[in-house]
Amino acid sequence: MTYFRDNIERMSGYTPGEQPKDGEYIKLNTNENPYPPSPGVLNAIKDALNKELRLYPDPVATAARVKIAEVLGTKPEQVIAGNGSDDILSIIIRSFAGAGDKVVFPYPSYMLYKTLSELQDGRDCAIDFNDDYSLPADFVVKGAKVTFVANPNSPSGTMISPEKLSEIAAKIDGVLVIDEAYADFAHDNCLRLVEKHNNVLVLRTLSKSYSLAGIRFGFCVAQEPLITGMMKVKDSYNTDRLSIVAAVAALDDQKTMKAHAAKIIETRRYLAAALLEMGFFVYPSETNFVLARCRKGVSAQNLYLALKSRKILVRYFNLRRLDDCIRITVGTREEIETLLKHLRELYDNKNGVR
Ligand SMILES: Cc1ncc(COP(=O)(O)O)c(C=O)c1O
Repeated sequence: MTYFRDNIERMSGYTPGEQPKDGEYIKLNTNENPYPPSPGVLNAIKDALNKELRLYPDPVATAARVKIAEVLGTKPEQVIAGNGSDDILSIIIRSFAGAGDKVVFPYPSYMLYKTLSELQDGRDCAIDFNDDYSLPADFVVKGAKVTFVANPNSPSGTMISPEKLSEIAAKIDGVLVIDEAYADFAHDNCLRLVEKHNNVLVLRTLSKSYSLAGIRFGFCVAQEPLITGMMKVKDSYNTDRLSIVAAVAALDDQKTMKAHAAKIIETRRYLAAALLEMGFFVYPSETNFVLARCRKGVSAQNLYLALKSRKILVRYFNLRRLDDCIRITVGTREEIETLLKHLRELYDNKNGVR
């Protein structure tokens, strides 16, 4: 006997990456930014710690939406804010897909898309990426209500061109969600598709490039009718007083964000080159992480465990197409030097991990 809906009973739920106690590990497993947020953010939060906290926040996060519009060159009416981009993804699935509706996403990608489809009792259609992580022709599924694409993709780090996604937006029946959590580490983005297509939603987060994973602030840019409809679906107060002031301050300091992103891109190049030299296959990354495939005969799981025992946490997925890989978040140069020192021992031809 269960009180749950059948689809909830059947699903296993999303498993987030490990979050050990602060300082316990060199933490390269959940794509956080190794650099601190803008000092302006800390000051803005301190200023907001006052008796006004007894009052509800602005339900539609106006100050943040005005700032986002200013920074991205759009209109506040084309922006909806949320408790991280995961909240926006949840608003999207509840807005556009119901029981039995087709929900499309590529595989392997961000695992939450499948969970969201299961929550709605949707018919999830996971379509395999090609070997080079391009999208296959059958990615356009007739009648799909929601099509998700993480771009750049996680966990591969690879990117689909905006031109290709524009073609897909024109062909599909429902909405196309372009999840740009990592766009600030990429050479291009799809924001311009919003003006061209009335079914495109572009998602961003402050968790990665703005170093604010702990604050929870994400947003979506789309044409006004989509945003107006999604406002009906969101929780009344889905961003709080502290996250709104933090978001305004973070977005106001583009210089800090861009300087940190540039350092991460530089370290990513260094890490990818070192991994290649060691004999890993490295997928081309446009993000703040790198997916590295182990050579035959080396167990990625054992490598992950060996690194963990040396207090370095990377991500291992026991899943088809990923179980011979480790995903490494780009940390500081020092953290990456330490990782590489251990990897050189563990990935050694003669004495390394098997
Ligand atoms: C592709 C992708 N989308 C969304 C998220 C969630 O971001 P947020 O912290 O804004 O909820 C992540 C987090 O890792 C991600 O990798």
